[in-house]
Amino acid sequence: MSKRIIVGICGASGVIYGIRLLQALVENPIHISLLISRAGRLVLSHESDFDPDAPLESLKQLGAKLHEAAQLNVYGPNDWLAPPASGSFRHDGMVIAPCSMKTLAAVAGGLADTLLQRAADVCLKERRPLILVPRETPLNLIHLENMVRVCRAGAILLPAMPSFYTHPQTIPALVDTVTARILDHLAVQHQLAQEWGKVNIC
Ligand SMILES: Cc1cc2nc3c(=O)[nH]c(=O)nc-3n(C[C@H](O)[C@H](O)[C@H](O)COP(=O)(O)O)c2cc1C
Repeated sequence: MSKRIIVGICGASGVIYGIRLLQALVENPIHISLLISRAGRLVLSHESDFDPDAPLESLKQLGAKLHEAAQLNVYGPNDWLAPPASGSFRHDGMVIAPCSMKTLAAVAGGLADTLLQRAADVCLKERRPLILVPRETPLNLIHLENMVRVCRAGAILLPAMPSFYTHPQTIPALVDTVTARILDHLAVQHQLAQEWGKVNIC
């Protein structure tokens, strides 16, 4: 069975993290469930040319080379009959990139008001990988406490904090320093970054 990954995109700045992740995933034989919050749609239209109603076409325009076995299904916020709403849907992990402080709070509070939040809640109860890519600065105590809470419940916090030691020269290259770490945690092969030790640091 090919891998199944759930991708959530929230209304935080940095939707490019979710888009670059999708670009990398569709180049593999992966079945993707894409959940976009209402605010996520707003920020997508503000920060990118990605069309959530034509995701594969958008990814192709961005240069993605679609794998013939890749699949991408988009579900709406109230699509309660969609597979990610149920613990019986077996998958290999969920990533929320970017993750807003509001959705972080919902996950930390066990709320499941939208399909995206429900899918994250299901990951925690089923002990499936849940990777949150929070984007906010500065952080208040409530944000920090919510991060501790989700971490204790089993989520992986992988903040949208790009690294510079590989000397990225473009915004996508900078973003991919984070995307590569997400893919590592999902055990998805990629060519986005070399392992430390194999990197030419000169
Ligand atoms: C352009 C724009 C950028 C935003 N950036 C952030 C952000 O970086 N982090 C954040 O937590 N909220 C950010 N927000 C606010 C969220 O969109 C808002 O809290 C929303 O309720 C989040 O809903 P969601 O988690 O369901 O997507 C931003 C809003 C807009 C319009």
